[in-house]
Amino acid sequence: MDVEKLKREAARRALDYVRPGMRLGLGTGSTARHFVALLGEKVNAGLTVRCVPTSEATRAQAEALAIPLATLDECPELDLTIDGADEIAPDLSLIKGGGGALLREKIVASASSRMIVIADESKWVPALGRFPLPIEVVPFGLQATWRAIDKGAAHAGSPGILTLRQSRDGHPFVTDEGHFILDAALERIVDPQSLAAELSAIPGVVEHGLFIGLAKIVILAGAGGVRVIEDRD
Ligand code: A5P
Repeated sequence: MDVEKLKREAARRALDYVRPGMRLGLGTGSTARHFVALLGEKVNAGLTVRCVPTSEATRAQAEALAIPLATLDECPELDLTIDGADEIAPDLSLIKGGGGALLREKIVASASSRMIVIADESKWVPALGRFPLPIEVVPFGLQATWRAIDKGAAHAGSPGILTLRQSRDGHPFVTDEGHFILDAALERIVDPQSLAAELSAIPGVVEHGLFIGLAKIVILAGAGGVRVIEDRD
């Protein structure tokens, strides 16, 4: 099954949740890219929406499609954010940040009444952690922050190996907000809440890729069709 086709199917279904006049958060990554492309077609056909992108890459794509954009300061409350994810657990907690946009993604999702995640079924996992957890850190004091993360992850029951994300040119990858990313290979995150608390307490950590309690709906496309999973709480 063509995975890009599945991502597009999930993105297409998400359009059903978009209403005229909505203020939308636009996610980042290859799946969100399909959604932005499809939204562009709707806008072109007359749909009126105002959108806040979660990365410079998404901003460039949306601008090229003439999708009306705003900053989060101009539009601080959003109706709906649609974004992809690297892993989705049955309680709809997520790992995000594989594309390096987790900080803006979390800010935008938190400013939204509802977050819908779109993905192909390979992202659905029984427990988070197989995908290395992206952790956005301040460049100053990197080694001290690195050690603190090591300790915090072990304390939360998920010790692992950290790697500084690199760009293709061999330099550290720099996020849209000017930070570095440490990818934590943890294998299985036994207690996501504790790990999130440990990481958030480290001064050099700007944000981590655990999205807990943010996604309300997941649209999952697989060989058997599209499944919509709703948060029961
Ligand atoms: C971007 O920083 C990420 O959070 C993406 O949303 C996530 O990595 C999913 O990306 P794909 O849709 O490309 O798999």
